[in-house]
Formats: sequence, structure tokens, C-alpha cells
Amino acid sequence: MNKIAHYVSFSVLFLLTSTMLKSQQTIQLTPPDLIRGLPAMKTLSLRASATEFDTTMLSLKDISDLLWAANGINRPTSGKRTAPSAMNAQDIDIYSFMKSGVYLYDAGKHALQLVVTGDHRRLFQRDEKSPAPPVILLLVSDVSRFRAGEDSLKMIWGAMDAGIVSENISMFCASENLATRPRASMNQKKLRELLNLKDSQYPMLNHPVSYKKNRTN
Ligand SMILES: Cc1cc2nc3c(=O)[nH]c(=O)nc-3n(C[C@H](O)[C@H](O)[C@H](O)COP(=O)(O)O)c2cc1C
Repeated sequence: MNKIAHYVSFSVLFLLTSTMLKSQQTIQLTPPDLIRGLPAMKTLSLRASATEFDTTMLSLKDISDLLWAANGINRPTSGKRTAPSAMNAQDIDIYSFMKSGVYLYDAGKHALQLVVTGDHRRLFQRDEKSPAPPVILLLVSDVSRFRAGEDSLKMIWGAMDAGIVSENISMFCASENLATRPRASMNQKKLRELLNLKDSQYPMLNHPVSYKKNRTN
């Protein structure tokens, strides 16, 4: 190979690699697949909190349907969601922590919007050396979206609303043979700093999500 050909192939390789490593600003999700999954009763019989997680990245279709099931828009004419919320405040935002960055779920566009680049999943790990699950969903309530009520009540509603989104996630995972676990324990201070949260935004729960270890299908 002459010097020019060598230089060109090196440059192409460099460009390809840097493009692949760069976090995408917007990840357009696929439309929800409304016919996948198990019947409700079978799903309930399988719901359980996982204790171990795989590291394989979820497919775009699985991430898309997971987020739609969690809190997507299921009635486009009213903009209402798969999860109810007190006063229809729609106070729960879902941040998706992945290897390439932290993304905010934009239900209106059914897309993920980049918030912070880089891998911050270790913020949820007790043991920082253990491998992280591919996706960790953080449920944040913005209690300022409740138009009325005492502050203490708003906190209760925010926690309830997060609990319902959490159960949607658990049900989708049970139905799709995915591993998940609702967790209240997390480093609130570091998460607030990283995501630049307002005082009215409270991280309520997080859900690691992965394929089941040693799954055959
Ligand atoms: C509100 C809430 C908070 C939880 N927080 C944690 C947590 O911080 N860490 C954890 O390992 N599990 C957490 N869990 C999971 C529970 O420990 C688990 O649901 C419980 O042991 C029952 O097991 P099951 O979900 O398999 O039925 C939490 C569950 C809920 C509903």
C-alpha cells in the first residue's frame, strides 16, 4: 500500500470510529408494538425483582417499547399517558442512563434527547467495579407541575405517580423476559448535580433493565 492509500484508509477508520463513539443528540424511537407480550395474568404471575443483570445492550425496539410502556402517550388526541398521574400533571420524567450518555424521554416525540454525554451508570452502583446493566431508568417527579395542593401532598402524589410508572416498567419487563428491579436507594446529591435538576425535581426510583442472564430466547 502506498503512503496516500495508507493515509486515506487510516482517516476513514478514524472518522468511522469517532462517529460511532459520539453520542447522538436525539435517538428516534420505534413506534410501540401493541401486539407483543404475554396476557396480563401471565405477566403478573412472572413479575419479580431481579437480583442479577446482563450487560448486553438492549435493542432499539426493546428500549422504545419499554419507554412507551413506562410512560408513553397512549391517547394522542388528549396527550394522556400509559401511566395515570394526579391531576394529569404528568410530573414523571424518565432519564435513561446508557453507555453513550444520559437521555431524557420525550414522550411527545417518542424520542430520547441527550442530556449529558458519557457513561454515568456507575452512580447507581454500590460496587463501582461490577459491570453495569445496559440501561438504568431514573424516574424524576417535578412536583411544580401540580397546579394545587400543599407541598407535603405534592410529594406524596409525586411518589405515587413514580410508583405507577415503576409498575409499568416491571410489567413490561415481566412480559418480555427482561430483568428489572425498582430501587429507591441512589446517590441523590450526585444525580441532582449531574442532571442539573431544579429544586422541585425529585429522583424517586430507578430501574436497572437488562436481558435475563443465560436467556435462551
Ligand atoms: C418503593 C420501592 C423501593 C425499593 N427500593 C429498593 C432498593 O433501594 N434496593 C433494592 O435492592 N430493592 C429495592 N426495592 C425492591 C424490593 O426490595 C422488592 O420489590 C421486594 O424485595 C419484593 O420482591 P419482589 O419485587 O421480587 O416481589 C424497592 C421496591 C419498592 C417498591
